[in-house]
Amino acid sequence: MHRRQLLQWTGIGFTALVTGCAGEDSDPLDSETLDSETPDSEDTADTDLVETDLPDTDVQDCTATSDDIEGPYWIEGVPVRQELDLYDENADGLSLSGNVRDVNCTPLANAVVEIWHANSDGDYDNVSDEMRYRGQTSTDADGNWSFHTILPGKYPGRPLHIHLKVWVRGSERLTTQIYFEGQPDNQGVPADLIIALTEVEAGELSGEFPIVLS
Ligand SMILES: [Fe+2]
Repeated sequence: MHRRQLLQWTGIGFTALVTGCAGEDSDPLDSETLDSETPDSEDTADTDLVETDLPDTDVQDCTATSDDIEGPYWIEGVPVRQELDLYDENADGLSLSGNVRDVNCTPLANAVVEIWHANSDGDYDNVSDEMRYRGQTSTDADGNWSFHTILPGKYPGRPLHIHLKVWVRGSERLTTQIYFEGQPDNQGVPADLIIALTEVEAGELSGEFPIVLS
């Protein structure tokens, strides 16, 4: 949408405000005045600035993300890395991304996001120095994070999932799991933990998991 519609709406709103302040005698509904200052005129730089200053609250529900069990396979000291697809497994690649915000929708920079998951056979690497399919990254100034990995394999008794933790300034703030739309055994999983995957090219999937910390 949203971007162009917001820009247009903002441009008109901004123009109307300026028109209303131009003088007590001016008519804020004067269409001729409005038309002369729409975003299609040369004065588009001002509308761009107004849009940039608006909080980006219309694109995300800032209800705290559901937590979930840690499970038995979390280990300390995993590498800082965003690329986890390093082992030539016969599995779809998966780009995972999202942002970290608080319940006021404020982006949190420098939050640490960690994921860990099974390989394509449904097995966790709990012993090797490689720490396969485990990685940490930190959010950028806008609260954004991303990893590239593989779609894990399913293991008995659990729906397909990826584990995730978030820390802020050294304090653990969330332990949860990411699940995938259309997979079996998702009954009972909180809806906000189930994400849709898009095939961006053959063998490459992409999904977004927005995180809100309570
Ligand atoms: Fe697990």
